[in-house]
Amino acid sequence: MRTPNTAPTQGELERQNQFMLKIAALNDKKEKRPRFFINTFGCQMNAHDSEKINGMLRKMGYLPCEEEKDADFIIYNTCCVRENAENKVYGNLGYLKHAKKENPDMKIALCGCMMQQPTVIETIRKKYKHVDIVFGTFNLYKLAELIWTNIESNSPVFDIWDKHEEIVEDLPTVRKFKYKAGVNIMFGCNNFCTYCIVPYVRGRERSRRPEDIIKEIRALADDGVKEVMLLGQNVNSYGRGLDEKITFAQLLRQVNEIDGIERIRFMTSHPKDLSDELIAAMAECDKVCKHIHLPFQAGSNDVLKRMNRRYTKEHYLELVDKIKAAIPDIAITTDIIVGFPGETPQDVEETIDVCKKVRFNGAFTFIYSKRTGTPAASMPDQIEEKEAKTGFNKLLDVVNPIVHELNLQKVGNVCKVLVDGISSDPGFVTGRTEDNTLVHFKACEELIGDIVDVKITDCKTFYLIGELQ
Ligand code: SAH
Ligand code: SF4
Ligand code: F3S
Repeated sequence: MRTPNTAPTQGELERQNQFMLKIAALNDKKEKRPRFFINTFGCQMNAHDSEKINGMLRKMGYLPCEEEKDADFIIYNTCCVRENAENKVYGNLGYLKHAKKENPDMKIALCGCMMQQPTVIETIRKKYKHVDIVFGTFNLYKLAELIWTNIESNSPVFDIWDKHEEIVEDLPTVRKFKYKAGVNIMFGCNNFCTYCIVPYVRGRERSRRPEDIIKEIRALADDGVKEVMLLGQNVNSYGRGLDEKITFAQLLRQVNEIDGIERIRFMTSHPKDLSDELIAAMAECDKVCKHIHLPFQAGSNDVLKRMNRRYTKEHYLELVDKIKAAIPDIAITTDIIVGFPGETPQDVEETIDVCKKVRFNGAFTFIYSKRTGTPAASMPDQIEEKEAKTGFNKLLDVVNPIVHELNLQKVGNVCKVLVDGISSDPGFVTGRTEDNTLVHFKACEELIGDIVDVKITDCKTFYLIGELQ
């Protein structure tokens, strides 16, 4: 791993453009354009990074394809937040060894969070010699140069940095959805929750300048985007370290003014930094969706302390009361971990108690996964998977019926739904309500991208069924 001695600048972006053009010239000459496939693991950050990879590859003359088996250039944008995310990557890489034997011109690239761990790089060098290009989370913008170096040298290229100070703006991007888009407002994380690998692989917090964010969202609105999701590991600390004094709440108000944007979402909010100013901005900005993702992770104060979350169960519950009072029909979703080292069955009861009190509209529930290098990995009393599963299932038995009950209450209501795709049921489309619940209803696909009124007629645990009004 190395520290870059030159900070990337906009001039650097121009340099990368030259590499993109050189590769495009090569690909133009080929009988058949090479095709690419991006396999994305992990969170919204990675999904958004993959849109940038997509944009760069197209600029280099590659064409997208639907299935990995048809691709000449395969790139895995990896995640390492839990062990199973890593295992999937290793499993797939094993399979690709055979695929590459059949198509020796195939190129395999790996990037993303998993690649920021030196042990992973060692394993790839030793066991997965069929990989051609490896880079990390700080030098994504260098993709073209790395491909060029690989073509010229015809040998594997590894380029992993341990940090990155500047933010390269204006990378070409191809969005997955036409009408909704993710927008990075900050990168990295400074919180060091003791179980979490993210701060080690995504570096320290860096906020983008508000003018760059606003410019990007204006351009998205001009391009027909109606919904933006502002992305950061902890959006509530947005603005720290910028020359200009600005808070996340102020940024939200600025985004709310942009013509053409109809819905604003954001994730993720850390409870310790959620301010009254933000609650007020959410309540007052008409475009900000009535939904907040507010991970609480655990209900026991002892566990929260050892997780280094820096809030208590009581503080979290007070926060939720304040939010519900200011925005009465808000939907609240969360993340929960079961099986943190030393967690007792009584501790899990505390977590269940929070779920009963808050009544979450949705919860991502995880079994604790030991991440080498994090403080929790060396804590005593690591919990056996079997024991964690017991607590986990108990938790689900409380969480899921509440989600279902809350959805049931929506039956009969007419909701505004942004239509975003076709459902697997023929003749049906899918969309999201303002509070981010998935709705399936009968309509033609021309409606994709419109915000329409849908009457909710039925509900399943995790989605609603409706009729177009
Ligand atoms: N920055 C976000 C979360 C990013 S990771 C936040 O703080 O809310 C997404 C979720 O993965 C976390 O909220 C946590 O619930 C889960 N997670 C992170 N590390 C984990 C680990 N080692 N084992 C199990 N779940 C983990
Ligand atoms: Fe991980 Fe905590 Fe940072 Fe979220 S806030 S990314 S859980 S360290
Ligand atoms: Fe995974 Fe990296 Fe996101 S570790 S959860 S892809 S920030």
